[in-house]
Amino acid sequence: MRQSSLVVVANRLPLDDNAAPDGACEWRRNPGGLASALHAILAPTPATWVGWAGGVGRAPALPDVGSLRLRPVSLTEDDLRGYYEGFANSTLWPLYHDAVQQPVFQRDWWETYRTVNQRFADAAAEVAEEGAAVWVQDYHLQLVPRMLRDLRPDLLIGFFMHVPFPPPELFMQLPRRVELLRGMLGADLVGFQREQAAHNFAQLARKLLGAEATDQTVAIDGRTVRTGAFPISIDVAEMRALVTRPDVVSQAKQLRHDLGQPKRVLLSVDRLDYTKGIEHRLTAYSELLRDGYVKVRDTVMVQVAVPSRERVESYQELRDRIEGEVGRINGEYGRVGEPAIHYLNQPFGRAQLAALYQTADVMVVTPLRDGMNLVAKEFVAAREDGSGALVLSEFAGSAAELEQAFLVNPHDVDGLKETLLRAMQADRADLAARMAAMRRHLAGHDILVWARAYLSALDDTGHLATLTGVA
Ligand code: ADP
Ligand code: F6P
Repeated sequence: MRQSSLVVVANRLPLDDNAAPDGACEWRRNPGGLASALHAILAPTPATWVGWAGGVGRAPALPDVGSLRLRPVSLTEDDLRGYYEGFANSTLWPLYHDAVQQPVFQRDWWETYRTVNQRFADAAAEVAEEGAAVWVQDYHLQLVPRMLRDLRPDLLIGFFMHVPFPPPELFMQLPRRVELLRGMLGADLVGFQREQAAHNFAQLARKLLGAEATDQTVAIDGRTVRTGAFPISIDVAEMRALVTRPDVVSQAKQLRHDLGQPKRVLLSVDRLDYTKGIEHRLTAYSELLRDGYVKVRDTVMVQVAVPSRERVESYQELRDRIEGEVGRINGEYGRVGEPAIHYLNQPFGRAQLAALYQTADVMVVTPLRDGMNLVAKEFVAAREDGSGALVLSEFAGSAAELEQAFLVNPHDVDGLKETLLRAMQADRADLAARMAAMRRHLAGHDILVWARAYLSALDDTGHLATLTGVA
């Protein structure tokens, strides 16, 4: 077994087995923030990524991707139900996102979550060199840091939570709250998207474990665990390179033409998830059409909603509701050859997404709660000419950075309608000033800056930052 000095452990690998039918291997990026962000850093790094390759049964043998080795972890059908669809995505995910959907507490899921976390920890321990750094990602694997520390006390262990970490009044609902907290505290550094999350974590460590804790450190079992906020970002250079490619520029023009050369294009790009506020957005847009503020011939809305977690009941119900509503809106307000909403329930390549971002006049990103939301940052990075408006939910982590967006509370449908209109009617100079400020911020806070900040906090010798090329 080949070993690495840096091991990343995430629920998913960034590539799955059916992407290589002829033995050749290509990145097949998941439509999700984690894979998008880590891809940029790890593709050229001699590290090992431990994760699930999708599907059930025996893990496929995957080839290396450049210098990066992939170590698949297999899941059975029962694992998938109890660990991924169950505890991770029906208990933790809704609870951590302000319980916008009722979390399900099903007792037998816990044991599967624990067993699968142990499998990831075992796999990471196997591929980690003596004294290696292991970087564990997200809510699926909260028990892994402690399991790893028990298996391999020699390791330097990092944990990063990509989603919100909730306030005590929500976290306290979890039947296994102590184990989950202790699991994360196996790490040397626990990173969050926002300072508020580190604050929530400290409060819980004091309350549940009686630990001495500040927003920067938690003292536990004779060790000091460091905590902090490291807001994740995007590969700005990749997006810039994409939007200046002639084929992408002409694809964007073609898209506008295919949409009927409207005066305005509104765009939303989300995983089909109840946290993304798609239904609130559709209600707002439909009322603007009803009240005559928006006319189908002038304005077109494009909603990309890529399928996600399709076997989970709440996601199936959401899809039915959204598709019913899009059908109703198009039936009521569309014309022959001129739908009010173009609804695309499919994955897109990076170049296609870049072309879509270039085509939009108003990007509408209105999650009810989101750890960060990279789509908002991708849109800003894609606007090389400095045009375009961003309507952004106050409840997305990115709102703390993209302060010049048209910020909105998506629960307030009247406020959302009013903000959409303001963004649509804003004058060019106002939009250009806002976009310039957001682009300046992003230029200084891209994915490399995030990785450098986290990895140098984890390892102050600078070895990890050098290894990953982010130093
Ligand atoms: P989340 O992590 O909750 O999915 P983010 O907005 O942080 O939300 O990240 C979503 C990522 O998935 C972005 O990098 C975005 O470009 C990508 N993505 C979204 N929709 C699609 C799609 N239809 N096809 C391919 N990639 C997508
Ligand atoms: O960003 C949160 C997250 O759960 C990531 O961990 C994941 O890559 C993304 O959303 C997509 O979700 P899934 O892996 O369930 O398709």
